Amino acid sequence: MILAPLRGVTVRSFRESFSSVIKEAGFTEAITPFISAMLGVDPLADRELKKGPEGEEIAVTPQFIGKDPAELRRVLKRVKDAGWTRADLNGGCPFPMVRKKGRGSGLMKTPDTLCRMLEAGCEEMPGGFSLKVRLGVDEPSELEKLMPLINNFPLRFLTVHARTARQMYEGECDRAALERVSALSRIRVVVNGDLPVVPFDEARRETMVGRSFIRSLGERPDIKELLAEYVERSRREFGCDRPVLGRMKELVAYWRELPKWRRLWNVVKICRTTDEFLSI
Ligand SMILES: Cc1cc2nc3c(=O)[nH]c(=O)nc-3n(C[C@H](O)[C@H](O)[C@H](O)COP(=O)(O)O)c2cc1C
Repeated sequence: MILAPLRGVTVRSFRESFSSVIKEAGFTEAITPFISAMLGVDPLADRELKKGPEGEEIAVTPQFIGKDPAELRRVLKRVKDAGWTRADLNGGCPFPMVRKKGRGSGLMKTPDTLCRMLEAGCEEMPGGFSLKVRLGVDEPSELEKLMPLINNFPLRFLTVHARTARQMYEGECDRAALERVSALSRIRVVVNGDLPVVPFDEARRETMVGRSFIRSLGERPDIKELLAEYVERSRREFGCDRPVLGRMKELVAYWRELPKWRRLWNVVKICRTTDEFLSI
């Protein structure tokens, strides 16, 4: 089971603070939230990669977002030199600002660019390059049509979030469309979207899980100690209070429907400092 990349949530300090819980739950790998593969950006300056791969307790795969194959090659060479041996390409980000510029799920609308990105990735990270996509941008049948192209690349795996980009994170996952893709895929498919924290799906395929794991943390009896560690690591990371508090609120928001947190959420929402947050 792979821990899904959730930008702002499953960040490095989170993975470090919750590493024992992540391992206990059965995760064997985590994909980082996306890192830009754009002109002039040094991937090793990103908080996710700064410390290098050694300190990570579970296998971590950096994820990149972009649409320029030459830049992707540059970035992958750089991370390879720093010791990373795997990378993932974001072909699923649904946000219109990203998609309309041809990045994230926008790659699904530009098959030539997608192919050149996959070629760059597979050449630079032989055996270690994977792709994460949606079923489509507008229609859940779009990925099926791309499978003859995607099948040409020796990808490590193909993660499919069983929604269209238009759906964002709402509405039902389309399991039937996902099965059609799986039947066509010559690449190992990792299933994603609204799955519980169980290492495989019904067909015993590998899964990628995000929000249900994050929600489950709110029920833990030791959550306050875990949060204290997460605050401490995030303080060291940012060196100031405000972004740390924002990060904590984003996490606790996942628990606001839980009986234990319903009232606390109202308190957390109005906290102004992390000291206040830790004293709730
Ligand atoms: C707040 C948030 C941030 C996300 N950030 C990323 C990201 O950086 N890269 C990516 O490929 N997917 C990202 N996703 C999508 C998730 O990885 C995953 O595909 C989606 O949440 C469905 O899986 P789940 O129902 O198990 O959470 C994000 C989702 C959310 C809700």
